[in-house]
Amino acid sequence: MRNREEMIKFLTGVQSSKRNYYTELKKTVSELEKKNTQLEIINDVMRGFNVDMSMDDMLKNVFEKLQTIFSIDQISLSIVDGRSLVFSNMFPAPSEHFIALGAIPDENSLYWHVVRSGKPLFYRTSPLQTWNEDESLMQIGLTSLFLFPLVNKGKVCGLLALGSKTMEEHHPSDLSFFQQLSDQVAVCMENARLYNEVLDTKKHWEETFQAVSEGILTVGLHGNILQANQAAHQYFPDDKKLTGQLVDELLFSKLDNPFRISMRTKAPSSAVVHIHEKVCECHCYPVFDDVNHLYAGIIYIKDVTEKRKIEAQLIQSGKLAAIGEMAAGVAHELNNPLTAVMGNAQLLLRKLNLSDPQHKLLSDIYECGKRSKTIIRNLLTFSRQEEFPFDQCSVNDSVEQVLGLVGNQLRKQMIEIETELDESIPFIEGSSQQIGQIVLNLLLNAKDALEDSNKREKKIQLQTGTQNVNGRQTVFLSVTDNGTGMAETVIGDIFHPFYTTKNAVKGTGLGLSVSLGIAEAHGGTLKAESTLGKGSTFQLILPVPSDLV
Ligand SMILES: Nc1ncnc2c1ncn2[C@@H]1O[C@H](COP(=O)(O)OP(=O)(O)OP(=O)(O)O)[C@@H](O)[C@H]1O
Ligand SMILES: [Mg+2]
Repeated sequence: MRNREEMIKFLTGVQSSKRNYYTELKKTVSELEKKNTQLEIINDVMRGFNVDMSMDDMLKNVFEKLQTIFSIDQISLSIVDGRSLVFSNMFPAPSEHFIALGAIPDENSLYWHVVRSGKPLFYRTSPLQTWNEDESLMQIGLTSLFLFPLVNKGKVCGLLALGSKTMEEHHPSDLSFFQQLSDQVAVCMENARLYNEVLDTKKHWEETFQAVSEGILTVGLHGNILQANQAAHQYFPDDKKLTGQLVDELLFSKLDNPFRISMRTKAPSSAVVHIHEKVCECHCYPVFDDVNHLYAGIIYIKDVTEKRKIEAQLIQSGKLAAIGEMAAGVAHELNNPLTAVMGNAQLLLRKLNLSDPQHKLLSDIYECGKRSKTIIRNLLTFSRQEEFPFDQCSVNDSVEQVLGLVGNQLRKQMIEIETELDESIPFIEGSSQQIGQIVLNLLLNAKDALEDSNKREKKIQLQTGTQNVNGRQTVFLSVTDNGTGMAETVIGDIFHPFYTTKNAVKGTGLGLSVSLGIAEAHGGTLKAESTLGKGSTFQLILPVPSDLV
């Protein structure tokens, strides 16, 4: 209020006439307007960077406002980039005639001159071509140029140039405004650079996070998932969104929760968990801030299903090798004394009458000897001490040979045998004798399972055919019975040597392990599927050599 009165007094002073009063008032108002616009421009520059406006947009805004108070026809920005000075932005956009955006040649350059001096410069373009830039400036009709070095932390980081077709030199108060404007632009440019650096770092980390092929979750203190990489989503195909879910429910049981342990002990912790069909190792790590406050956790999920399988196979083959070695030694040692026991028993049997009470005892000795010989033979096959020549052979032939031997006996026990042998299956490379041994083992097992079951219709189905396994042609033989079937806990053990559920007289527990050994020696495999109370299917799969396909 006081200021207003003072202004009225000043404007209506003794000396002033009415005409003078209005002229002064108009001048003051226009100056206030100008100052206002100048403030707006500075504000615009600031805001431009805060809301991530592009440099082009910001220059355009500044240019349009500057034009309302100064006669300006072009505004441009150049940036010092290492050892070059680069035209980065210009408004209005550069015409074809003008210098293209890019590096400004150093030699005899007005722009370089201002950058080096670090002082603002007002320059009137000269037809004498004092500077390199003269020609281009005159081509677009600029008669004067105001150049302001942009200084940040005492270093010139760029140049703000204002070109005019009519511009005169400016009043000192305007100069101070331009100085403020260029200082502000310099600060904003530095902010923009830092902002982009942060964005780049963020992008880099996000790309790294996504590139890891194992699952990674960042988790809040309460177990809520904050971020999940692409690989983590593959473990939970049904859950579209992992963020926000609780790891306690998604991954861990109440009893074994490595995340909670890690948060409590502030140390890494891990556990093996089952995610759908996969076996996974989950490693949990605590995350601390600058002042060592725990604020989050990282969970790294690694699928170890394959690794576990290979480890199990290694243990298995190690065990088998050890047993095989021992078995081979024992079998060799026993073979000779057994031959003597059986030979002598046979000699004595010939001398005795059937009615002789000793006859029964001797034939028991002979039968037990025979059985021991079978076991020894199995052991030798199992440890692959016996050599069987490999040749082209047909799985169908082996099946028929074995059926010729034991088929009748099975039928006598009221077991129906159904065969579905594909005549077109190719030969395989192997030993028909050994393949026959597998068929025999599977048939005898099926017979035992049927004998132990109380089914009225007992049936064994044998089927052969071809199938493609991982791009390789194979021949398969499946033996299915509707006998007792097996509990899941039993299936895991049946291929182990000496594993049997039969009594000591009936089973040695070597049939399937010997069969699996033979299948593997042929490059194939033997698989079992079974349902307790319903029956079992064993499938032998053997590769067909490419020249026999
Ligand atoms: N078809 C089947 N149905 C049900 N159980 C089976 C079948 N085949 C195998 N098994 C189970 O697998 C176990 C191991 O079989 P394997 O043939 O290796 O030994 P075994 O038959 O007991 O003795 P042997 O050495 O005389 O063959 C059997 O004891 C039985 O429990
Ligand atoms: Mg058996």
